[in-house]
Amino acid sequence: MSVEHEKENAALAAMEYVEDGMTIGLGTGSTAKYFVEALAEEVADGLVVRCVPTSEQTRELAESLGVPLVPVDQVQQIHLTVDGADEVDETGNLIKGGGAALLREKIIADASDHMVVIADPSKQVDRLGAFPLPVEVNPFGFTITAKKVYDALCASGVEKPVVKLREGEDGKPLVTDGGHYILDCHCKRIPDSEALSARLSSVPGIVEHGLFIGIARTIVIGNENGATVFEY
Ligand code: A5P
Repeated sequence: MSVEHEKENAALAAMEYVEDGMTIGLGTGSTAKYFVEALAEEVADGLVVRCVPTSEQTRELAESLGVPLVPVDQVQQIHLTVDGADEVDETGNLIKGGGAALLREKIIADASDHMVVIADPSKQVDRLGAFPLPVEVNPFGFTITAKKVYDALCASGVEKPVVKLREGEDGKPLVTDGGHYILDCHCKRIPDSEALSARLSSVPGIVEHGLFIGIARTIVIGNENGATVFEY
């Protein structure tokens, strides 16, 4: 059983939530890619939707497949967003941002009537934190902000966190679609993700962080034969 097949089955199951006439947020990553592809097939068969991509990567994919896009500033309501995740806990809270798209992903997901997360079983965890938590920061004063992030992690009960600036393949700081840097926070275990989320949100210089607390309403975990759905 391949992980790719599990991802694809999660994406196909999420098509159940798509209705004609919807405005849909399109997530970013290898699992979200399967959803965009499935959506493109339905569009080719006559489904009418308009979509908002959460990254330039997803914009290019959707455009190449003929999925209709709409500028985000022309949208009044987003009915549904379907996106992947790096970790999903038992309460439906998430870590996202492994693909560096967390800012647009959170803006779109939070503004949506319904966020559906699609994932393979490897993303399910008892407690968030084994995956390094991405924190998107303004490049101005990022070393100052990194120290504040470290302090916020310690104050939230994370033991011996390590905060690293994410680099691109060229060895330079990776720059997000929004022109920001990413700090990857190696926590191993986040004892209280809600408390940490609140602390990080209050630090000047942090543009957004990858803890998605209480945003996802539906988690779809792909398996061999289909998918298991969790509602929150
Ligand atoms: C993008 O920034 C992330 O939030 C992705 O949604 C996340 O990394 C999941 O990606 P995969 O589906 O490729 O694992």
